[in-house]
Amino acid sequence: MSLPNKVKIVEVGPRDGLQNEKQVVPTEIKIELINRLADAGVSVIEATSFVSPKWVPQMGDNSAVMAGITRHPAAVYPVLTPNLQGFDSAVQAGATEVAIFGAASESFSRKNINCSIAESLKRFEPIVSAASALEIKVRGYVSCVVGCPYEGAIDPEQAASVAQTLFDMGCYEVSLGDTIGVGNPASISRMIEACAKRIPVAKLAGHYHDTYGMAIANIHASLQAGVSVFDSSIAGLGGCPYAKGASGNVATEDVVYLLHGLGIETGIDLAKLALIGDWISSAINRPNGAKAGRALCSQASV
Ligand code: HMG
Ligand code: MG
Repeated sequence: MSLPNKVKIVEVGPRDGLQNEKQVVPTEIKIELINRLADAGVSVIEATSFVSPKWVPQMGDNSAVMAGITRHPAAVYPVLTPNLQGFDSAVQAGATEVAIFGAASESFSRKNINCSIAESLKRFEPIVSAASALEIKVRGYVSCVVGCPYEGAIDPEQAASVAQTLFDMGCYEVSLGDTIGVGNPASISRMIEACAKRIPVAKLAGHYHDTYGMAIANIHASLQAGVSVFDSSIAGLGGCPYAKGASGNVATEDVVYLLHGLGIETGIDLAKLALIGDWISSAINRPNGAKAGRALCSQASV
C-alpha cells in the first residue's frame, strides 16, 4: 500500500508524558507547554486527564490547566475521562473532546482503572451517550494491544475485539496502545491487520511507547498498513504509572522528522518543536528523549 500524503499527530506529552513525573510539574509550565505546541502547528493536544487525583496526583490540576490555556482556533484539546464523574468535571472545565480508555488485558484493566474489561466498557456507555447529547467527540484507547506487563503477549483478536466495541459504541477514532513498547513491526502489523478487519483503517491510530526503541519502526509498518494518525509525546516524555519500566511515547520530534523525510505533511514546524522539546526537558530536569530534537538543537547552537 502507498503511504498517506498527510498524517495527524496527536500530541500526548502534557498528559501521557507528564502523568508519570514524580515531582509535581507547575501548572504554568503545563499551560506554556500546551500553548507552545499549538503555536508550532500541533492541532490535537491531549491536555490533561480527569482521573482520580488519588490515583494520579500529577493530573490534579486538570481544571486549572484547561482554564489557563489559550485556545488556538486550529487546535483541539482532548482530555481523558475514565467515568461519568470525570466526564462531568471535564465538561465543566470546557473540554470539547474526551477520551475513554480501556485495555486488551484484564490484569492491566484492573490495575489501571480498577475494574474488568467488561465493566469498563459498560462504564463508558453513559459517557458516550452524555457526550453525544453535548456534541462532544469521544476518542477510544485500547491499552496493551500487543503485550501486557502482567500477562505477556496479547492475542491480536483480543485487542481488535475491544477496539471494535469502542468504535461501535461511538468513538470516532480508536487509538491502539502499545503501553509497554514491546511491539515490533511484525506483531504491530498482525494487530493492525486484525483491527482493520473490523474497523476502517482511517479510524485507527497508533500509540506506541518506545521502551524497546521500536516505535519509529512500528510507525513505519503502520503507515504501510494504511494508518494515518499517530500519538506521540514531545521529547519522548512519559511512562505509564501502572506499567512499571515502560518508557514514554515515541518522541514527537522523531515522528515528525520521519514523516517529513517520507514527504508526508503534518502541518507542524519541526524547528519550533525541537526547541519546545529542549525547553520542557530542562524545565522538568529530564534528559531530552528526542533524538531528532537533540540533533536539531545541537546544529542550531553550533
Ligand atoms: P476507584 O477508586 O475504583 O473509584 O477508581 P470509585 O468510583 O470507587 O471512587 C473512589 C473515589 O475516587 C471517590 O472519592 C470518587 O469521588 C473518586 P472519595 O469518596 O473516596 O473521596 N473519583 C474521582 N475523583 C476525580 N475524578 C474522577 C473520579 N472517579 C472517582 N474521575 C478510577 C477508579 C477509574 C477513578 C481510577 O482507577 C483512576 O482514576 N484511574 C486512572 C488511572 C490513570 O490515569 N492511568 C493513566 C492513564 S491510561 C494510560 O496512560 C494509557 C494510555 O496512554 C494508552 C496506552 O499507552 O496504552 C491512554
Ligand atoms: Mg500511553
